Amino acid sequence: MKNYIKVFAPATVSNVGCGFDTIGFAIDKPGDIVTLKLRFDGKVRITKITGDNGVLPADIKKNTATVAILELLKYYKDKSIGVDLEIRKKMPIGSGLGSSAASSVAAVYGMNKLLNNYFSEKDILNFAVKGESIASGAVHADNVAPCLTGGFILIRDYNPLEIIQLPVPKNLYCTVVYPHIVIETKKARKLIKKQIPVSSARKHFGNIGSLVTSLYEGNIDLLGRTIHDEISEPVRAKLIPYFFDIKNAALNSGAYGCSISGSGPSVFAFSKSHTAAVKIGKSMQAVINKNRIKSNLYISRINKTGPKVIA
Ligand code: HSE
Repeated sequence: MKNYIKVFAPATVSNVGCGFDTIGFAIDKPGDIVTLKLRFDGKVRITKITGDNGVLPADIKKNTATVAILELLKYYKDKSIGVDLEIRKKMPIGSGLGSSAASSVAAVYGMNKLLNNYFSEKDILNFAVKGESIASGAVHADNVAPCLTGGFILIRDYNPLEIIQLPVPKNLYCTVVYPHIVIETKKARKLIKKQIPVSSARKHFGNIGSLVTSLYEGNIDLLGRTIHDEISEPVRAKLIPYFFDIKNAALNSGAYGCSISGSGPSVFAFSKSHTAAVKIGKSMQAVINKNRIKSNLYISRINKTGPKVIA
């Protein structure tokens, strides 16, 4: 039995305009790295966390990665199995890029590899969702699912969790701009209204169906038109300084749709080439920089592989 593994898990963009809690996709960078070393005394320990500026809990009952591991171990036959975890945050926390999902996915994916794939992918998904729920205060799988499987994911139902993998258009590029402010998903979720008008629901039904169609057809023009949000963006835009200026800059530079990534503050936009993705990103950043807020720019294709064993 191999007793050491190092896993990279990618960042994800969730909601994707019309798919609140139901659509997400993975991007190539950034991502998190988790190192796991098996123990044979049943203990789970976090030995080191780096890149988090000291904000992540080292308490195994509060950290998303270890909560996911503890859930997995509940269902493992051998109670003497434990693990030492080292978490290297390689992406910003509270950025709307699925940071907690990446850590929980890397942890349980790696643990399952050490246990010779004892659990199915579906089990792993459920364990990772459990970890993620500690961070966001609610069960939502639109970061965890694409992080685990790669590509675009549709969540058909939560009870029980049923996910559907969607195709990825060949020439689809994603621009993500992360303004350096922190938004806690837990707080941002409290802003979501419990009810929406039928007129808004109708727009979402039309757009979600069209988004799925656009992915099957590889039709990025149509995909761009579906990036419309009646649920999250209207109530969360105010958390992101100059959000509408950033969005307009992206659309005016040729983006096929632009909206908040997850609960923000990152903002994503689609395009058809690397050159266009860079141009869009620079114009989004220009708005942010002009207002003296620092930002990161990530240009990526859609990640189709999910977690990767790197050692
Ligand atoms: N769908 C979740 C939300 C994603 O919008 O709250 C959080 O990253």
